[in-house]
Amino acid sequence: MNIKELISEEKIKNRIKQVAEVIQKDFNNEEIILICVLKGATFFSTELAKDITSPIILDFIKVSSYKGSESTGVIHFDLNISEEIKDKNVLIVEDIIDTGRTLTYLKSYLEEKKPKTLKICTLLDKKERREFNLESDYVCFDIPDKFVVGYGLDYDEKYRNLPYIGYIE
Ligand code: IMP
Ligand code: MG
Repeated sequence: MNIKELISEEKIKNRIKQVAEVIQKDFNNEEIILICVLKGATFFSTELAKDITSPIILDFIKVSSYKGSESTGVIHFDLNISEEIKDKNVLIVEDIIDTGRTLTYLKSYLEEKKPKTLKICTLLDKKERREFNLESDYVCFDIPDKFVVGYGLDYDEKYRNLPYIGYIE
């Protein structure tokens, strides 16, 4: 498989620092429950969490969406959050937004738990591919419609540990 670098490790780290600063200000240095969407957002969310100096509580969620022919938008929870988020500041951290299906569902699910604030932060955004009316509050990089891997993103569970973001030619 031929993988070409799209975003270097250095660019990723610098951009995460900038975004962390904005998030921190927006949340007035208050405590944030950071919900990492597994598995793709693991590398991104830990890096982001380290760059935010306000108190962070880490939580995890894992969902699988069934795309394909029966495109009903059914989403299954493989792992749910363990924190009580009512009246708390919540930040959903995702690796990439593609059609927007996953986050549209996840956002409305978490909204029902009545958090004080609920925002989305994504490492990558493929806006061209959007099928659902969803916007991320924080985006590190807008990318073209290419299949990308690395920095947590996989192709068939592989390449998540590449330190940069590359695309498959
Ligand atoms: P959505 O629900 O269509 O927005 O899909 C989001 C999910 O699809 C992400 O969390 C990824 O797991 C996966 N995905 C979308 N595009 C890519 C890609 O280019 N590389 C790796 N995974 C992707
Ligand atoms: Mg994912």
